[in-house]
Amino acid sequence: MITIAVSKGRILLETLPLLARAGITPVDDPHTSRKLIFETRRADVRLVVIRAADVPTFVEYGAADMGVAGKDVLMEYGGGGLYEPLDLGIARCRLMLAGPEQAVPRARRTRVATKYVETARRYFAARGEQVEIVKLYGSMELAPLVGLADLIVDLVDSGNTLRANGLRPYETIADISSRLIVNKAAMKMKHEQVKGLIAQLEAATKTQG
Ligand code: ATP
Ligand code: PRP
Repeated sequence: MITIAVSKGRILLETLPLLARAGITPVDDPHTSRKLIFETRRADVRLVVIRAADVPTFVEYGAADMGVAGKDVLMEYGGGGLYEPLDLGIARCRLMLAGPEQAVPRARRTRVATKYVETARRYFAARGEQVEIVKLYGSMELAPLVGLADLIVDLVDSGNTLRANGLRPYETIADISSRLIVNKAAMKMKHEQVKGLIAQLEAATKTQG
């Protein structure tokens, strides 16, 4: 049996059609069911549907053999405890530094609001800039509007959320898409099954409509 950890929410919408093209269809509908473990029409595969940020943890600890997670989540999780064999090409966006349309001069150290504290820390350290990072769990775009921060590090797709709040993108930190990740022990112990699934998912990404 192979357990695949899938992110709830936005990624799930794009992951389920991809899995379906690899013949993996949950018996119950994860969008409506309160279940956490989903049997699929394939006897050898089941899904667990969890918070996006928890997917790397489940896979690294072997609670799931494989997972689907955004590159943003993987960059923030860090460490070398996972294999990342495949870019699934779904949930594409950019991790960006953004701020007010008109930058405001200030006397104190720049404050940056983000959910991606570690990634932001690395980004500013690489530029030799000292900033204060404020951890938020969502709605980062609000922070500059209410004086909580000067800049944000957040995901941008269409740019609509930034525009709607009088902000603009300053710089791209990373191009983001969802990746297939694999537990290191599972890659060895369940090699044939895992290799087969990677090949099927790779083929599925190529038939994406
Ligand atoms: P949670 O609800 O568990 O706090 P979340 O709000 O980060 O998590 P989503 O907004 O569903 O969950 O985002 C999950 C993933 O989808 C992100 O990690 C990212 O990889 C991708 N994503 C987020 N926003 C966008 C977007 N606007 N366009 C494309 N992909 C996105
Ligand atoms: C994500 C992200 C941005 C927005 C960017 O939020 O955090 O706020 O999408 O997309 P856009 O550039 O197309 O506007 P999401 O919609 O997932 O809501 P969330 O705040 O609940 O995570």
